[in-house]
Amino acid sequence: MPERIVVLPGDGIGPEVAAEAVRVLESLPLDVEIQTLPFGGAAIDVCGDPLPADTLAACRGASAVLLGAVGGPQWDGGGARPEQGLIDLRRALDVYANLRPARAPGIDLIVVRELVGGLYYGRRGVLDDGTVFDTCEYHPAQVERIARRGFALARSRRGRVLSVDKANVLDTSRMWRRVVTEVTAEFPDVELEHGLVDSVAMRLVTSPEEFDVILTENTFGDILSDVAAAVTGGLGLASSASLGDAGPGIFEPVHGSAPDIAGAGVANPAGMLRSVALLLEHGLGRADLARALDGAVESALASSPTRDVGGSSSTSEFGDAVLATLAPVAASR
Ligand code: NAD
Ligand code: IPM
Ligand code: MN
Repeated sequence: MPERIVVLPGDGIGPEVAAEAVRVLESLPLDVEIQTLPFGGAAIDVCGDPLPADTLAACRGASAVLLGAVGGPQWDGGGARPEQGLIDLRRALDVYANLRPARAPGIDLIVVRELVGGLYYGRRGVLDDGTVFDTCEYHPAQVERIARRGFALARSRRGRVLSVDKANVLDTSRMWRRVVTEVTAEFPDVELEHGLVDSVAMRLVTSPEEFDVILTENTFGDILSDVAAAVTGGLGLASSASLGDAGPGIFEPVHGSAPDIAGAGVANPAGMLRSVALLLEHGLGRADLARALDGAVESALASSPTRDVGGSSSTSEFGDAVLATLAPVAASR
C-alpha cells in the first residue's frame, strides 16, 4: 500500500511553491500517492468553508499533510477567513509541537512553538459595551507536553533550552514557567534558562548564534519564528513541522501567501522544499532522503537563488536546480 500525502496548496504563492514540492516528491524513490485538495481561501471560493469536511477527512487518514499557505486581501471582507481553516486543522490533528528550525553560518537554532493553545484558541467575544476580547488560556498539561518535546529535542542537539514567556506580567506565563521548571527534572542533562519575550526578541536580532532550542507558547512563537527566519536569510527559507503524539503531521513553510508577489513566479520555494525534507524525515521515516533534499536546496541556493535572496531565478528554475542535484537519488527509483 502506498503512503498517502495530502497536499493543500492554498492561496497566493502557496500553489506556486507547492507545485515545486510535488515535482520533487514525484521524483524521489518513494511509494507514495499524492492527493491535492482545496483549503483556505481557495476552498472558501468553491464551498464557503476554508476546511471542507472532505479535506479534513483526507488529512486525518493521510501519512502526512503538506501545506502551502493561506490568506489574502480578497478574504478580508468579514466573512469566512482562510486562516481559520489552518487553525481548525491544527487543532483537529492535535499537532501541538511546531518545530521551526533556523540555520545560517554560525546560527543553528530551533523554535519549538506550542501550536494548539493560547490566544488562538481561548474564549473570545464582544461585551455589551462593544469591548472585544481574545483570551490566552493554557492548561498545565498542554505546557507539560510541549516542554517534554522541547527538552527531548534539546538532548539530540546542544542540550540547551531557553523557555520564553512574559512571567513578569501574565498568569499563564507564570504557570508556564513553573511547569517547564518541573519538567526539567526529567532531563537533568539539559540546561534550562528562562527569558522574557521582549528582551529575547532583541537578543534574537543582536546575537542569534547564542540560541539552541527556544521553547515558547503559540503567539510568542509565531512572532519569534519570523524574527529567526529574518536573521537567517529571510522568510523564503524557513520551514516547519507540526507534530502530535500520533497521526499525521502538517509540514508547511513559515511564510504566508505573500500577496505582493503572488502570480509573478518569483516566490522562493526553499522554505517549502525544506518542509518537504521535514516531511520525509518525520512523516515517512526517510531521514536519508531528507538529507539529500536539504543538500540539494543548499546547492540551489548557491547556484540559482531567487530574488528575495539576491538572485534572479524564478520559482520553477530553483526547482529545476534542486531536481538536477537530486537526479542520482531519483535514478534509484
Ligand atoms: P507573508 O509571509 O505572506 O509575506 C511577508 C513578506 O515576505 C512579503 O513581502 C512576501 O513577499 C515575502 N515572502 C514571503 N514568503 C516568500 C517567499 N517564499 N519568497 C519570497 N518572498 C516571500 O506575510 P504577510 O504578508 O503578513 O501575510 C500575507 C497573508 O498570508 C495573510 O493573509 C496571512 O494571514 C497569511 N499567512 C499565512 C500563513 C500560513 O498559511 N501558514 C503564514 C503567515 C501568513
Ligand atoms: C504561521 C501563520 C499562522 C499562525 C496564521 C496564518 C494563522 O502566521 O503559521 O506562522 O499565526 O500560526
Ligand atoms: Mn506566522
